[in-house]
Amino acid sequence: MSKTTRLDETIEVARPLNEAFAYISEFNRIEEWDPAVAKGIRLTDGPLGVGTKFRIDMKAGFSLYYTVTEWEAEHRLLMTVDSKVFTAVEEILFVKTPTGTRIRYIAIFTFPSALTLLAKTFPGVMDRVGKSAVAGMKRALEDKQPTPVASRGVLLADKLLLPGLVSFTKFGYRRARKKQNPVSAYLGDRHAVITGATSGLGLATAEILAARGMSLTLVARDKAKATRLAKDLIKRSGNPRIQVEIADLSLIGDVTAVADRLLKSGKPIDALINNAGALTNPRKVTTEGLETSFALLLLSPYVLTERLYPLLKQAHGGRVINVLSGGMYAERIHPDDLQSSKGSYSGSVAYARAKRGLMIVTNQWASRWKKDGIVVNAMHPGWADTPGVESSLPAFHRLTRPFLRSPEEGADTIVWLATATEAAKVSGEFWLDRQQHPAHILSRTKERAGDKQRLLDALAEFSKKFS
Ligand SMILES: NC(=O)c1ccc[n+]([C@@H]2O[C@H](COP(=O)([O-])OP(=O)(O)OC[C@H]3O[C@@H](n4cnc5c(N)ncnc54)[C@H](OP(=O)(O)O)[C@@H]3O)[C@@H](O)[C@H]2O)c1
Repeated sequence: MSKTTRLDETIEVARPLNEAFAYISEFNRIEEWDPAVAKGIRLTDGPLGVGTKFRIDMKAGFSLYYTVTEWEAEHRLLMTVDSKVFTAVEEILFVKTPTGTRIRYIAIFTFPSALTLLAKTFPGVMDRVGKSAVAGMKRALEDKQPTPVASRGVLLADKLLLPGLVSFTKFGYRRARKKQNPVSAYLGDRHAVITGATSGLGLATAEILAARGMSLTLVARDKAKATRLAKDLIKRSGNPRIQVEIADLSLIGDVTAVADRLLKSGKPIDALINNAGALTNPRKVTTEGLETSFALLLLSPYVLTERLYPLLKQAHGGRVINVLSGGMYAERIHPDDLQSSKGSYSGSVAYARAKRGLMIVTNQWASRWKKDGIVVNAMHPGWADTPGVESSLPAFHRLTRPFLRSPEEGADTIVWLATATEAAKVSGEFWLDRQQHPAHILSRTKERAGDKQRLLDALAEFSKKFS
């Protein structure tokens, strides 16, 4: 004979009904709030609703298969659960209160007869597991994570080469992930502009933000590829607010044109993600006469961001995320040779110097725009297995493949900087895996007297030529 057991827990949270519903109904994100869950995966495409399926991998080593059977937006979710251990019906009820939302979580578990012994001990265990899940849900929705501070351990690991390099791999990501907090910020009224969203980290970022309901503008150079991608994202996420702007970002004329179109649209930008990039070897000059690494990786994000400043300001808390690289640690800025025309050319050096330059610009924007509430940060993704890495560094890719992160893991800090409430409390920093890292680990890469100003003057001068 089968045995059933019931869980019934209620919490009150100071979050509007629509925000609480949006976060909890994206049920794969249960991994952020239920300590018993290892990973949540959404198995079906399209808008969330009746028929949506999730697979929830438990830390105990088995998986739960959820199917949404009833869906009343901002009111009620009913899901059936299948697994090797038990079946269940889970109901989540949402009610608006004067101070926020009341959430009631009811679950009825049924154990097959062979497991009735387990079920006899189960109510107590289940009660504890259920209570800690619901407490986690409350904590996640309260969204009061501490302001991030630099950790001495992280700074020390960066100084010691090997631990620093291990942190670039998937093992570094997995270690850092254990300490990460949920991000329940509501994105349904926010807009992000992402460059380089057709591949790798940019694509992973777009997929995550689209699923969370953010309005997206994808800036890409290949119209057919970008249009296909936007269609696919809309279909898979059920989020129709995804548009495309076409620009070859190594051409400053294209950058100014796309910025002007965005300015004309007047839509505030909550997050500008300067991600597009490539490692160029041998030296290449654009049709505008600029060395490609400098044009694409430094001057382009500089011009785009400077021009989009009014829209970032209008967002009241606009954020800029500059995607840099750990390669930056090897180079200092050479403001008198921004186009790598002196001596022999190395694509990796030109790339690292351009990223170094954007770090300097990140600091400058952070202090200049503090008064406007604009937050500017830089990050590096570690080593992620993307088409860009495979094509530009084939030998490195072959050798390190088992240790590379997935694009989603590399993009995690981009998404966090763009969306987490606590990430907006720190500006002008360099991040990996949601942790602050120093911008330099070698004293030889530090800027020499006057270098920062020379760089900023040169960028302003170049940008004037194209305006
Ligand atoms: N993956 C890593 O381990 C790693 C490590 C350090 C830093 N990064 C940085 O992360 C960012 C993303 O790299 P990824 O690894 O995801 O590379 P990826 O897979 O090659 O993606 C690069 C993206 O940038 C776009 N792009 C390149 N040149 C462009 C141009 N001229 N105009 C417009 N878009 C352009 C590409 O568009 P197409 O699809 O049209 O080519 C693509 O969408 C880059 O800034 C890179 O420097 C990556």
